[in-house]
Amino acid sequence: MPEKAAIAIVGTGWWATTAHLPAMTAHDRIGKIILVDHKPEAARAAAAKYGIPLAHCFTSAAEAKAAHPDLQGAIVATTHHAHYAAAKDCLDQGMHLLLEKPMTIYARDAKALVDQSAAANLTILMGYTFPCLPPVMQAKRYIDEGLIGDIEYVACSMSSVTYDLLLGHPERFEPASGFAVTGPTPQTYSEPTVSGGGQGVLQITHLAAMMFHLSPGMRAEVVTAFMNNLHAKVDVIDAMAVRMNTGALATVGSSGNLRPGDPGSVEVHLHGSKGRIMVDGFTGEFFMHLHDGRQEHIPRHHPAYPGDVPVSKFVEILLDGAEPLFPGAVDGLYTVELLEAAARSAAQDGQRVFVRDLYN
Ligand SMILES: NC(=O)c1ccc[n+]([C@@H]2O[C@H](COP(=O)([O-])OP(=O)(O)OC[C@H]3O[C@@H](n4cnc5c(N)ncnc54)[C@H](O)[C@@H]3O)[C@@H](O)[C@H]2O)c1
Repeated sequence: MPEKAAIAIVGTGWWATTAHLPAMTAHDRIGKIILVDHKPEAARAAAAKYGIPLAHCFTSAAEAKAAHPDLQGAIVATTHHAHYAAAKDCLDQGMHLLLEKPMTIYARDAKALVDQSAAANLTILMGYTFPCLPPVMQAKRYIDEGLIGDIEYVACSMSSVTYDLLLGHPERFEPASGFAVTGPTPQTYSEPTVSGGGQGVLQITHLAAMMFHLSPGMRAEVVTAFMNNLHAKVDVIDAMAVRMNTGALATVGSSGNLRPGDPGSVEVHLHGSKGRIMVDGFTGEFFMHLHDGRQEHIPRHHPAYPGDVPVSKFVEILLDGAEPLFPGAVDGLYTVELLEAAARSAAQDGQRVFVRDLYN
C-alpha cells in the first residue's frame, strides 16, 4: 500500500470546505487532494482557499481518475439528490468511498451502491460523526457487552437549529462572512428536488444511524409517520413509530425549530431486558440504569463536534485496510430505509409502510 493517500472530494460546497478540506490539508497521511465539482467555480474557490493547484480541479470523477490513476478514494459531499449518481461514478472508477449522509434518498439506490461496492471489493464509510464521541462509544461498549440485555424499546429524539436552512435562508443560519468559503445554497436544504426532504434527511439521518450503530442486527420492518412542514416545502417536525425486525419498537422524533444558543439534542434512549442507556451526542450526557441497581452518569459537557473524524477514519481504511466504523451496508442503508418509509407513510397520512415494499 502507498505511504500517503490520494483522495478526491466530490462536491466542494459548504461542508467540504468547512470540515473535510481542513481535515484533509492538516492530515499528514494524505499526499494528494483532487477537487471535483460540476460547477468549476466551486472547485476553484476551494482550491484557492486551501492552496490546491488549479490543475487538481475537475468536473467529474472519471476525468479526475483518468488524470490521477493513483486516486484510491473519494469523499462524496454533494447535495443529497446527487449522492447516488456521484457515489456510483466513484465506484465505477474503482474508488473507495467516504459518503456524506444520507447515503441516498431511496433505499433501492442505497442497496445498489452496497451491492456494487461489495462486488468490486470496495469499502463505503458513511460520514457519521456522533458515534465517535466518547460517551456514545461508552454506550456502544456497554451494549455490546450485553449490560442492558435485549433491546426492546428505543426512544430517539433530535432537535436542532435548522429551520432557516429548511426555509431556504442560509444567510439567516450564518452570515455569508461566517463561512470558510461558501455556505449552502438557498436550495440545498429547502428544495425537495435537491434536498430529497427536510429535517429527516438532514438531521434524523444522524439520529437513526446512531440508533442502528448502537443496536447491532436491528433493522426497520414497518414504519408509520407524521410530518409537519410548518412554513417550509420540506418536513421540519417529524414523528415516526417503527417496528424492527427484532421485535423491538422505536419512536423517532425531531424538530428543526430551535433558535441559536439552544444546544439541541440528538438523544438515543435504549431500553433493554436488563436496563437502559441514554446518550446525547450534542450535550454529551450519558446515563445507564440497570435492573440490578447499577447506575452511571456523565453530565452534560457539550463536546466539540468531531467533524474531522470521518477523514481520518477514511485514511485508515485506504492505507491500513481498516474496517469501516459506519459501513454503508448497515448505517447507510438501514437509515435510508427508515427515512424513505417514513416519508412515504407521512405522505399517506400515517399509513404503515413495510420496508420490503420499498424494493418492489
Ligand atoms: N456531517 C455533518 O455534520 C454535515 C454537515 C453539513 C452538511 N453535511 C452533508 O454534506 C453534504 C453537502 O452539503 P453542503 O451543505 O456542503 O451542500 P452545498 O450545496 O453547499 O454543496 C454541494 C456541492 O456539491 C456540488 N454538486 C452537486 N451535485 C454534484 C454532482 N453531481 N457532481 C459534482 N458536484 C456536485 C454543488 O455544485 C456544490 O458545490 C450533504 O450530504 C450534507 O448533508 C454533513
